[in-house]
Amino acid sequence: MTELMPARAGETLDEAEVRAFDRAHVFHSWSAQALIDPMPIEGALGSYFWDYDGKRYLDFSSQLVNVNIGYQHPKLVAAIQAQAAKLCTIAPSFANDARSEAARLIAEIAPGDLNQVFFTNGGAEANENAIRMARLHTGRNKVFAAYRSYHGATAGAIALTGDPRRWPSEPGLPGVVRYWGPYTYRSAFHSADAAEESVRALKHLRDLIMVEGPHTIAAILLETVVGTNGVIMPPDGYLAGVREICDEFGIVMIADEVMAGFGRCGEWLAVDHWGVTPDLITFAKGVNSGYIPLGGVIISDRVAGSFQTTTYPGGLTYSGHPLACASAVASIGIFREEGIVENARRIGAEVLGPGLAALAERHPSIGEVRGLGVFWALELVRDRRTREPLVPFNASGPAAAPMAEFTAACKERGLWPFVHFNRTHAVPPCTVTDDEAREGLQILDEALEVADRFYTG
Ligand SMILES: Cc1ncc(COP(=O)(O)O)c(C=O)c1O
Repeated sequence: MTELMPARAGETLDEAEVRAFDRAHVFHSWSAQALIDPMPIEGALGSYFWDYDGKRYLDFSSQLVNVNIGYQHPKLVAAIQAQAAKLCTIAPSFANDARSEAARLIAEIAPGDLNQVFFTNGGAEANENAIRMARLHTGRNKVFAAYRSYHGATAGAIALTGDPRRWPSEPGLPGVVRYWGPYTYRSAFHSADAAEESVRALKHLRDLIMVEGPHTIAAILLETVVGTNGVIMPPDGYLAGVREICDEFGIVMIADEVMAGFGRCGEWLAVDHWGVTPDLITFAKGVNSGYIPLGGVIISDRVAGSFQTTTYPGGLTYSGHPLACASAVASIGIFREEGIVENARRIGAEVLGPGLAALAERHPSIGEVRGLGVFWALELVRDRRTREPLVPFNASGPAAAPMAEFTAACKERGLWPFVHFNRTHAVPPCTVTDDEAREGLQILDEALEVADRFYTG
């Protein structure tokens, strides 16, 4: 305990106090507490946020790839205020207008027979509940989860995660079986092209199912488009192939759309791009752009059928929180009124896609450009021929210096990039304008000069 001081509204703190109280009392995620210096943010609007000196940053990260509607959308803010004035909280055991309407709208967006929604506070809890549903529905235990994936930081979700963030939490959940998803640029299957990658990745999945025993496998979990681990697009035919395998063996197909869903891919849901209907879809982030924490599982009639007369053994005090649900209702309405999904698709096709491809012509350090909508990655390399990454896998400290210098060059010029390993992702809000996207491309063009200096090919 420190000395008692009266509680003050956040905005009465000056920058020095924000910084000092943060350093003294806030324990930050994924960080060595003494080695960080979080930037105090004074405000944000649209595609920009700014610090206390008024320095503005064009947000090419959408924070953690969640602010799909942009900052401080006035109608979304008003909807939250209206709900706050009406009813701030009610337990999940009651029916509530905001929750009913949010569930109806989400079911309307979802493909096929995905007609029910279990609400959570975020993506990790959504995945936890999806695998619980799959296990109980099938009466089986194993869950297939991919390398190069992220599914959240709670005990089960981190065990499902296929990247180094899992390592310190091992050993994790029993029954997780790891597989390689398709990744044509760095194929685990030595494929020559995307078509071959799809065939070989499906063959690999079938082989694993054979040796693990299909009757022991509850679910195959995948990110429809792999997010943090590289905006890795499934080759055409892959998702349909997974669907086929799941049908053949009675396995539940779970699509994690926490990052890829709600406009990010220029579709309402990423699976729409490939016309595939999973059994369960997990969502969070873009559903309401994180204005209030919200996530959930969209459940097919088949899986929901297992819990009609049998109790579903899971719940959360804030499941279907009225403020969060009201913000989802408003956000979906605004997306429809303002054509935000269409904007994301058009920006990808007309501005970001061609603009990033043009950068690849000028900058040798760009090994590959991939993505769609407002979901793009530039994979940076030392040598285009060998595809040696600009920094090693999971590099930190001096080994990561080239990416750190690139990041600093972006920030100096007023662009907030999303950088992970040897990649920078171009993931602005779905509401980004043509001019803003071009501004971001211009800054990337300048900052990539820094990456090119490390090119040795
Ligand atoms: C694909 C994916 N799944 C799950 C999560 C976890 O979501 P949350 O941080 O809301 O728990 C994330 C977060 O980045 C994600 O990208």
